[in-house]
Amino acid sequence: MPAEHRYPNSPVFYRNLRKSLPCIVRGEGCYLYDENGKRYLDASGGAFVANVGHGVGELSRALLEQVSRVAYVNGTAFTNEPVEELAAELATLSPAGMDKSYFLSSGSEAVEAALKLARQYWVESGLPGKHKIVSQTPGYHGNTLLALSASAREHYKKLYGSWLVKVPMIPAPYPYRCGCMGAPDCPACTGSALEEVILREGPETVAAVIMEPVGGSSTGASVPRPDYHRRLREICDRYQVLLIADEVLTGAGRTGKWLAMEYFGAAPDIITMGKGISGGYVPLSAVITSARIIEPIVRGSGAFKHAQTFSHVPSICAVGLAAVRYIKSRRLVEAAAATGTLLQKALRSLETLPAVGEARGIGMLAGVEFVADKKTRAPFPRALKFAETFTEAAQEAGLVVWPNVGQADGENGDLVMIAPPFIIRPPEIDSLVSLFKTALEATLRKLAPRS
Ligand SMILES: Cc1ncc(COP(=O)(O)O)c(C=O)c1O
Repeated sequence: MPAEHRYPNSPVFYRNLRKSLPCIVRGEGCYLYDENGKRYLDASGGAFVANVGHGVGELSRALLEQVSRVAYVNGTAFTNEPVEELAAELATLSPAGMDKSYFLSSGSEAVEAALKLARQYWVESGLPGKHKIVSQTPGYHGNTLLALSASAREHYKKLYGSWLVKVPMIPAPYPYRCGCMGAPDCPACTGSALEEVILREGPETVAAVIMEPVGGSSTGASVPRPDYHRRLREICDRYQVLLIADEVLTGAGRTGKWLAMEYFGAAPDIITMGKGISGGYVPLSAVITSARIIEPIVRGSGAFKHAQTFSHVPSICAVGLAAVRYIKSRRLVEAAAATGTLLQKALRSLETLPAVGEARGIGMLAGVEFVADKKTRAPFPRALKFAETFTEAAQEAGLVVWPNVGQADGENGDLVMIAPPFIIRPPEIDSLVSLFKTALEATLRKLAPRS
């Protein structure tokens, strides 16, 4: 019997309107503890956020200290120390010359701002015809309307279709479902599909391409070929198109490098970051670019046309600064790479289990895709809600994972993401695998056809 919850008739409305949720009262390291003392292994860092672990005193003290001095000033009138120092830290961690940062609160806001920046750059560079964005399918960039337009997730978009703008898309590199069987010239896997789309749309109309350097939950941590992003870079240069790397999920060390783009030897024009950049201790996101992109706007109108009350906020940036310094001083990106290798190996061992089609990923970012038929890779029918049932069974067993659905064909397809805090140790990885098996057994039992 599931335990009683403290708020059975909660005055809050969450995404799931039918479920009563356990109340988390404390977090420590890789674990969360609920109202009844039940312990959960946070194997997805919530939504890929808790990268430094829960309950880190340095980060709560950084917030307290800054709030005690000054919590908020508006960036139209003042700058502040944390925002200046955080931007300087990010400049040292970004590709050469990318030393200009704009701070917001969520990944969606950062994407929205990055796309607007690309548009304004072209207008003020004397090419006002460039307004289209190209993105990848499947893919996800957020839930505000422009970010959602650039996302390829039908179940999020359907209801709001009439409000969204049309965004041309290229197939995302997703080898498990590509059907090319590793063909060396596959347009989706090499990135050459981008050229065709730009030519079809008219290069004079295309402002930017936005992509996820390594797949997030849309493709279950699919890793592109090593030359994929160099190909995108070449095509973008050929047709005067800006390349935006959406590192909201992959950045801040998640893949075992500070930025996932470091694996690919290609520099984008604009980077978005969010999620783990503050370790989850405050809502913080960033748009990072170079003076080259800002310069035409400085010479032209002199102002970036994007305003939000909570941008460049001292208290938020103080925690971001403390988190970045914490990650650096404790060498947590290196830990994500080293322990990530163990994690990936442990997850690959799940491929022998029934219904597990593939376990894949890099560093501390992994996806486990479930299939009805391991040979043909046929997905479970959506009506079965395999990923959701698994996620519930996992939570019941004390394991937090992140589900996604629909990636096989836009409707069917089930996977869960594993993205633990970088401080996870080998015994906790063993426990993760064991809880995963318990959850899978429970799921298969629950969904087995009754005879
Ligand atoms: C790649 C990517 N971009 C943007 C977003 C949107 O971020 P947020 O949910 O913080 O608005 C997400 C969220 O999952 C993401 O994975």
